[in-house]
Amino acid sequence: MPFYQDLTDENASILFWKYNEEDTFDHKALIEPENFEKVEHYHPKKLIEYLMIREMLKMLKPDHKILYKTIGQPFLFPKDAFISITHSYPFAALAVSRKRVGIDFERIMPKILRIKHKFLHPSEIAWTENEDEVHFLTVIWVIKEALYKLHPCKYWSLKNFYEVDEFSLSDLSAITCRVFDADFEDRYTARVCRIEDFYFAVIEEDHQINFPIPKESPF
Ligand SMILES: CC(C)(COP(=O)(O)OP(=O)(O)OC[C@H]1O[C@@H](n2cnc3c(N)ncnc32)[C@H](O)[C@@H]1OP(=O)(O)O)[C@@H](O)C(=O)NCCC(=O)NCCS
Repeated sequence: MPFYQDLTDENASILFWKYNEEDTFDHKALIEPENFEKVEHYHPKKLIEYLMIREMLKMLKPDHKILYKTIGQPFLFPKDAFISITHSYPFAALAVSRKRVGIDFERIMPKILRIKHKFLHPSEIAWTENEDEVHFLTVIWVIKEALYKLHPCKYWSLKNFYEVDEFSLSDLSAITCRVFDADFEDRYTARVCRIEDFYFAVIEEDHQINFPIPKESPF
C-alpha cells in the first residue's frame, strides 16, 4: 500500500505517503508535459517526491494534472478544486479541497532555534521559551507555512503578518492563527498532528472566520 496515512476530513482529501524502495512509478504517465522542464534536473529523491504527489492525485482525480503559477503555486487543471502540496523525502502529502487549503510538514530539529527571530511574531516569544521550545517552534513554523500556501497575500515575512495563538502541545487539534496586515485580519483554525519526527499542519478555508479590523487599530 502506498498510503502511509489518510487524514481526509469532511472538507478535504488529505493523503500522506512514505516512500518505500519497492514503490515504482510510471514516469511517462505521471509527469505532465507542461512540467518536463521543471523536473528534468531534479535530484532523484526530489523526483520521487514529485511522482508520489502525482500518484496520489491519480487516486483522487485521475483525469487532472498539477500545473504551476509563476510564483511556484500549484493548481489543478481542470481547476475544479484547490490543492496544496508538501514533501520531504521519504514523505509527501497532498490535499485536495473544494475550498482553499494549505498543508505543511517539518522535521523536529533543534536548528529551528537559530532562525526563530526570523519567523516568530513578538507575541509568540513569551509562551514558547521553555523546555519544549523546539516543539512549539516547529508547530508554529508548519502552521505559518500552511497559512502562506493557503492565503492569497503571500507575505514573505512570517514574523510580521502571521500569528499563532498560544496552544498546548497536548492538544494540537484546533490551534487558532491569523494572517493580517494594516487593513485586514483573516483568522483560521489549524489542525496539527505528529507523524514520526515531523509535525504536519492542515488549514482549510472552511475553518476561517473573518474579523474586520477596528478603525482605531494600531496596524
Ligand atoms: C513556497 C514554500 C511555502 C515552500 O515550503 P517548503 O517548506 O520549502 O516546501 P514544502 O515541501 O512544504 O512545499 C513545497 C510545495 O509548495 C508549493 N508551493 C510553492 N510555492 C507556493 C506558493 N507560492 N503558494 C502555495 N504553494 C506553493 C509547491 O507545490 C511545492 O512543491 P512542488 O513544487 O514540488 O509542487 C516556502 O519555500 C516559502 O516560500 N515560504 C514563504 C515564507 C517564508 O518562508 N519566509 C521566510 C521566513 S524566515
